[in-house]
Amino acid sequence: MASVLAIETSCDETAVAVVNNRQVLSSVVASQVAVHQKYGGIVPEVASRQHVETINQLIDLALSEAGLDWSAIDGIAATCAPGLIGALLVGLTAAKTIALLQNKPFIGVHHLEGHIYASYLSSPDLKPPFLCLLVSGGHTSLIYVKDCGIYETLGQTRDDAAGEAFDKVARLMDLDYPGGPVIDRLAQQGNPQAFALPEGQVSLRGGGFHPYDSSFSGLKTAVLRLTEKLKQSGELPVADLAASFQATVAKALTKRAIACALDYGLDTIAVGGGVAANSGLRQHLQAAASQHNLRVLFPPMKYCTDNAAMIACAAVEHLERGHRSSLNLGAQSRMPISEVMQLYTEPAIHPGG
Ligand code: KG4
Ligand code: ZN
Repeated sequence: MASVLAIETSCDETAVAVVNNRQVLSSVVASQVAVHQKYGGIVPEVASRQHVETINQLIDLALSEAGLDWSAIDGIAATCAPGLIGALLVGLTAAKTIALLQNKPFIGVHHLEGHIYASYLSSPDLKPPFLCLLVSGGHTSLIYVKDCGIYETLGQTRDDAAGEAFDKVARLMDLDYPGGPVIDRLAQQGNPQAFALPEGQVSLRGGGFHPYDSSFSGLKTAVLRLTEKLKQSGELPVADLAASFQATVAKALTKRAIACALDYGLDTIAVGGGVAANSGLRQHLQAAASQHNLRVLFPPMKYCTDNAAMIACAAVEHLERGHRSSLNLGAQSRMPISEVMQLYTEPAIHPGG
């Protein structure tokens, strides 16, 4: 089984990991949250500079924690899309340089495919087809996983990502960044029925609503109006607001994921991304799934948020299928997951094989 060292620098975490097949040998993450916190969000230029400062140390650390030297590594991988372009370039350049110097195959990995592979790390026996509900700071997608590299996006957000909605609503409530964990904690003490908030449905041109797409900007505006009104009449009931907002998001995501899985005859929903940590989403989705005899997989938190183990896990499978990326592969800030196979050259066909 192949061992891959992977680098992930698409956003604000510098991460390096070594994975053998689906077993994590090392996974190190240097979070930049504290650096960006004072700006209330991620500053791309600051993120790139932080990646440059930490990347070399993390590569050495991941390799030594795995107890391996370069000769035991079969491939070098890096996230190449989508993400902050300057940030992606740091990891991509480091990985390509090592691949060239060590004469190893290089594998570029799509960040969202990495999030899908996070589920294989904790459930190594998981097999396609299944549905992935990916909910992070940058994405809210329902992805039909057909095979390694073969994906179809069935639903997505029309505006803000789920995590982004948590972060923006937290800011409206004068809470810290990132907002998700803070709102989750406050929601435990609040009443989820205290305020009725709009779920944000996406209208279809011929009438009715899109069954799998979501929209969180209307919900955010409703919270804005409500907080303005409540602030005028005294102190903000933060716990009740947090609980009501969280329950609305959890219900919206659950409804779409369940409908999608049932419509496509998929019996497993694998959840990924930072919002997979949300206790409201976990409860709602788990309860609805068991009513319909569906299986829900929530990977451990360290593999839900950005990490390089999930990138390495995806790269192992591509490597074993003979997929290779060119050393000319560039970083792309946007790229649909359906185009993953464009990152690879066709496997070599052996004479007589
Ligand atoms: O996957 P992730 O670490 O980074 C991206 O690729 O975006 O996700 C970060 C997002 C942030 O928006 C953060 O507020 C949210 O995940 N998040 C949560 C929770 N923990 C993190 N949202 C809701 N509830 C949580 N417990
Ligand atoms: Zn991510």
